[in-house]
Amino acid sequence: MNGLHDALTPAGPQALALFHLWNAMLAACAIVFVLTMAALAIALWRAPRVTERATPDLDSHPRKTAALRRSVGWGIAGSSLLLFVLLLASFFADRALSALPLEDAVHIDLVGHRFWWEARYEPNAPELTFTTANELHVPVGRPVLVRLRADDVIHSFWVPSISGKKDLIPGRESTIALRVDHAGTYRGQCAEFCGYQHAQMALVVVADLPAEYERWRALQREPAPEPASPEERRGLELVEQTSCAMCHAIGGTRARGRRAPDLTHMAGRGWLGAGAVENTAKLRPEWIANAQKFKPGIDMPPIDAAPDDLAAISAYLGSLR
Ligand code: CUA
Repeated sequence: MNGLHDALTPAGPQALALFHLWNAMLAACAIVFVLTMAALAIALWRAPRVTERATPDLDSHPRKTAALRRSVGWGIAGSSLLLFVLLLASFFADRALSALPLEDAVHIDLVGHRFWWEARYEPNAPELTFTTANELHVPVGRPVLVRLRADDVIHSFWVPSISGKKDLIPGRESTIALRVDHAGTYRGQCAEFCGYQHAQMALVVVADLPAEYERWRALQREPAPEPASPEERRGLELVEQTSCAMCHAIGGTRARGRRAPDLTHMAGRGWLGAGAVENTAKLRPEWIANAQKFKPGIDMPPIDAAPDDLAAISAYLGSLR
C-alpha cells in the first residue's frame, strides 16, 4: 500500500515530538553502549594474565577493592541520573502530544472492526456528518480530534508519520489529537494483534490542502451518483437485490447495511479491504467475487454470480466517485 509509513519522517507536531524523543534516547543509548564497550576493552586489556588456577583474593588487595567499589558507585549514579533525564524527556514529550489547541478541530469518530476502520466525520453536527471507511482525509494545518472506539476486540491506531499509537478498547472511549503540516498520503496500521487479518488492517490518511479538503468533504456528503450506463444501472439493481445491501450502505439507494464499509463514494478510495487490494477495474470484480482469496477470515462471503453480473456490480461500484 502506498503512503509514507515512517516515524523518522514526521509530518506534524506530534510525530515531531516523538522524533525528538527517539533521537535523544538513541543518542543516550549509543553513548552508554560505546562507554560500556570501552570499559570492557580496558578491563580486558589490563587484566592480569592468569597462569594458574587460583581464586583471586580481593581482601589481600584493599586498594583494588576500594577502586572497584568506586567504579560501581559511579556506574549506579550515572545510570540513575541518565534514566531520570530520559524519564523527564519522556514526560515532556507526552505533554507536548496533548498540548495541541483544538479550536476549529475536525472531529472524527473512528471505530475499529475486525478488520477495517469505520470513520464518522463531525458526529455531533448533523448538518456536516458523513461516514466513510479505511481512508481518512484531513486538512493540512488544522487540528483533528479522533475519538477511538472498538466494536469487537482491542485494535490500535497508529500512523507513524503523524502521531504515536493509541489503543481502541471495547467499551471505552479514548481520543487522540493530531495535526498534519505537510500535504501527502500517510499509511497507518492497526498496531494491536486483533486476529487472523490483523496485518491487513491498514488505514490511509490523506492530508489535503484546505480547499481540496473542503471539496472532498462536500462530495462525501452527497448521495451516491446515479448510474450513467445500462451496465451500471444493472449493477445497482444487483447490489440492492443481493446480499451486498445487507451489510453495506450506499447513500441514496436501498443499500443500508451497517456491518461493513460504507460504499457511497468507494471509487474515490485507493484500496479495498483496508489496504488488502488495489481498487482497480481489474481487481475489483475478483475482490467482490471472492474476497476470502485476498483476505481469508473476513466477514465478506464469496458471491456466486455470473461473470456479467460481477462485471456490472464492479462497474457500478467503480462509478461511485
Ligand atoms: Cu485491528 Cu490489529
